[in-house]
Amino acid sequence: MTKISPSKVEERSFVVEGPVSASCLGELAIDPEMSNFRPAEIQKDALLQIAADDYCKVFIAVSEKVIIGYLAFHQPHELTRWSSLPFILELGAVEISPRWRRQGVGKSLITAAGRHGFMENHVVISLEYAWHWDLEGSGLDMWSYKDVLYRLFSKIGFRVYQTDDPDIMEHPANFFMARVGKNINENQRGDFLNHLYLDSLTYK
Ligand SMILES: CC(C)(COP(=O)(O)OP(=O)(O)OC[C@H]1O[C@@H](n2cnc3c(N)ncnc32)[C@H](O)[C@@H]1OP(=O)(O)O)[C@@H](O)C(=O)NCCC(=O)NCCS
Repeated sequence: MTKISPSKVEERSFVVEGPVSASCLGELAIDPEMSNFRPAEIQKDALLQIAADDYCKVFIAVSEKVIIGYLAFHQPHELTRWSSLPFILELGAVEISPRWRRQGVGKSLITAAGRHGFMENHVVISLEYAWHWDLEGSGLDMWSYKDVLYRLFSKIGFRVYQTDDPDIMEHPANFFMARVGKNINENQRGDFLNHLYLDSLTYK
């Protein structure tokens, strides 16, 4: 169970909720077309695990008891440079069912998350990898897709930072965004900025 009270935002024919508990997620079905990252049922299991972790946050868009979109925040992977900073939270994924895209669901999810207090206590990072994007489904080229994501995350104060994170440097369209919460102090901010570029000889 998460400790933060869920909020609900009614909009068109879907509802955005979050952060949701694993038990709340367990009562819902998932749209089978939500398979951008992995098959929908496997993705639902992953969301259940994330929601069960107190540190993580899951926001969902629901229509008629079916999850039609989600946005998940989790701790950075332990093998990355970001895991050494306890105030970092990673926006891991946002996915909307193909039949619900371009109807404001993604925007509603990110806006709902942006209103929550946990955002202010963290530097929230998002590592955007071009190989995750649904170019075929969107009809967009890589650079236009990148711009859609950039504009989406910018709506709640994310900004682009340059970094030598090897995963970001892997492809020219990959990019790194972060949102520094209001309650992040100058030392934490400095630690975050220092982690953008690490000496490759000392980076493990
Ligand atoms: C990217 C994604 C989350 C967008 O969700 P969505 O619900 O379709 O987005 P919205 O309808 O809220 O639109 C948000 C903005 O993006 C724009 N947009 C979204 N898809 C677009 C497209 N295919 N072409 C042009 N603009 C697009 C909208 O016009 C809107 O712009 P505005 O704020 O200026 O009006 C969705 O396409 C998706 O799930 N893609 C697959 C997974 C993925 O790529 N995730 C991101 C990496 S983790």
